[in-house]
Amino acid sequence: MRTHTCGSLTEKEANRAVRLCGWVHRRRDHGGLIFIDLRDRYGLTQVVFHPDPDPELHTRAKELRPEFCVAVEGTVLPRPEGTENPKLATGAIEVRVSKLTVLNPADTAPFEIAEEGDLSEELRYTYRYLDLRRESSLKRMILRHRVIQVMRRLLDSEGFIEVETPILTKSTPEGARDYLVPSRLNPGSFYALPQSPQLFKQLLMVAGFDRYYQIARCFRDEDLRADRQPEFTQLDLEMSFVDEEAVFSITERIFEAVWSQVVQRPLTAPFPRISYRQAMERFGTDKPDLRFSMELTDGTDLFRETSFERFRKTLDEGGVVKWLLAPGAGAALSGKGVDQLTEIAKANGAAGLVTVRITPEGLVCPMTKHLGEAILKKAVARAQGKTGDLLLLVAGPPETSLASLGALRCHLGRELHLIPEDEFAFVWVVDFPLFHFNPDQKRWESEHHPFTAPRQEDLPHLASDPGKVRARSYDLVVNGNELGSGSIRIHRREVQEKIFEILGMSAAEAQSRFGFLLTAFRFGAPPHGGIAPGIDRLIALITGSASIREVIAFPKTQKGVDLMTGAPAEVTEAQLKEVGIGLKRR
Ligand code: AMO
Repeated sequence: MRTHTCGSLTEKEANRAVRLCGWVHRRRDHGGLIFIDLRDRYGLTQVVFHPDPDPELHTRAKELRPEFCVAVEGTVLPRPEGTENPKLATGAIEVRVSKLTVLNPADTAPFEIAEEGDLSEELRYTYRYLDLRRESSLKRMILRHRVIQVMRRLLDSEGFIEVETPILTKSTPEGARDYLVPSRLNPGSFYALPQSPQLFKQLLMVAGFDRYYQIARCFRDEDLRADRQPEFTQLDLEMSFVDEEAVFSITERIFEAVWSQVVQRPLTAPFPRISYRQAMERFGTDKPDLRFSMELTDGTDLFRETSFERFRKTLDEGGVVKWLLAPGAGAALSGKGVDQLTEIAKANGAAGLVTVRITPEGLVCPMTKHLGEAILKKAVARAQGKTGDLLLLVAGPPETSLASLGALRCHLGRELHLIPEDEFAFVWVVDFPLFHFNPDQKRWESEHHPFTAPRQEDLPHLASDPGKVRARSYDLVVNGNELGSGSIRIHRREVQEKIFEILGMSAAEAQSRFGFLLTAFRFGAPPHGGIAPGIDRLIALITGSASIREVIAFPKTQKGVDLMTGAPAEVTEAQLKEVGIGLKRR
């Protein structure tokens, strides 16, 4: 139907007869001439309708409206001098039209495709196929495609085999709820959609595939946020006979390739590494944003001298005092800005926040009388605070003190413009604990997932003190976001059984849920490990998108609704009956 796309014609094609297909992007009527910017995925071409020699053609062109789908035939001509558009790939030419075919007219679109202004997400996602016509949306999807191609090429060249694993399967736990699918052929039984291909990739290692990858769709029924969708995509990979270093190395090579071929920015590998403990102590989070410093400091010893009852009690109960020095914040933040800091600290679990402004007249702190000026002065001196700075202090249990200051650090980093926007700070977070204790349910839970290998030297603590056991797991963190996570896995049946036991699973339950894995481990399962970076988060990071919805072709809202199709939707009684389900009507 066409000889060229709308992004390809240049002066080289001058005087050639061409045929183009596309959408009416803009129409301008100018001194008897009608100009149409004809658009397709590849770009824009200006096509011109003259009133002669074919006045009827010219009249028909007047009827063209934005988003009509049309084909034109005509001759490529250099644009008249002075009307060239150097910003456009086709800006040196125009096509003088001799024939117009309207392939399909269009209703007035609910928003202008040619305008890049802000639109409500509701409108965009209801008409996502129109939203994807917009240049910014299209560009993000093309970049996503490019990134995935780079990954595929690299992994293929390194001997990885791409394997598709089942979508209708049994629960593969990653800490969220499963989506369930009823089985018509087995009434009363359900498939679970995979939260990740975790167990299948491990079984492919048992199968001897050695190196596996998949651009894998995962499904998790969890509370949604800007960086979480109910279905999302991972670059899932697994290797046999490897240690952590081998997984780090292949992952770094993947990101180096993506950065050099798509992002076209330098990226330095190996990425720095930080232990979970250090990340918590220095940045108050296991997802540290290393684009700026402003680290947390421990000041517990200083405050042992205070006579302030509330601090003393906290310290006597095993609490700590942590602080953060925000350079210039004392001068930069208004009273309201400082109040907001207290709200953030409280929202992150702190009982309160002590603020100390360092002014030319001395320290300004609402708590000076209680805490004692001498101690505050010592704290400021140790923190090397300067006039204009703000010292933030939190006393409390270590976890909440660190977490609240960690949240304040990120907030202040943004507020004080300390974060270089176009930098990418990759870091490996290592040495996670294998378990954390869930105080509500009074039981141990896996920090990552139950298939993560414990460190060999910590095995003796497995039964006596599970909290002490470190995992052979790692997270890849970029600019404060968890981009990927992985581990060296358990490959011995008895270790896996022990882990299930610590997680509170009876032998019978372990057998019924994961018997296939335990059985597979009896047949010479090799040592193996892998990782799964999230593709949606990666593309959002590269494109600077505020939400991963921007980089998913057909995303869902915060409530898990697809505004375009209306999913999830009710089904008929007959369909329910077929799968043996009756609904309690509310
Ligand atoms: P994990 O559960 O940490 O590990 O997931 C790995 C990465 O997947 C992305 N991700 C998400 N992206 C969008 N929406 C979500 N709801 C969502 N949940 C996770 C994140 C995350 O870092 N099987 C293990 C990996 C392994 O051990 O190899 C796993 O799935 O970028």
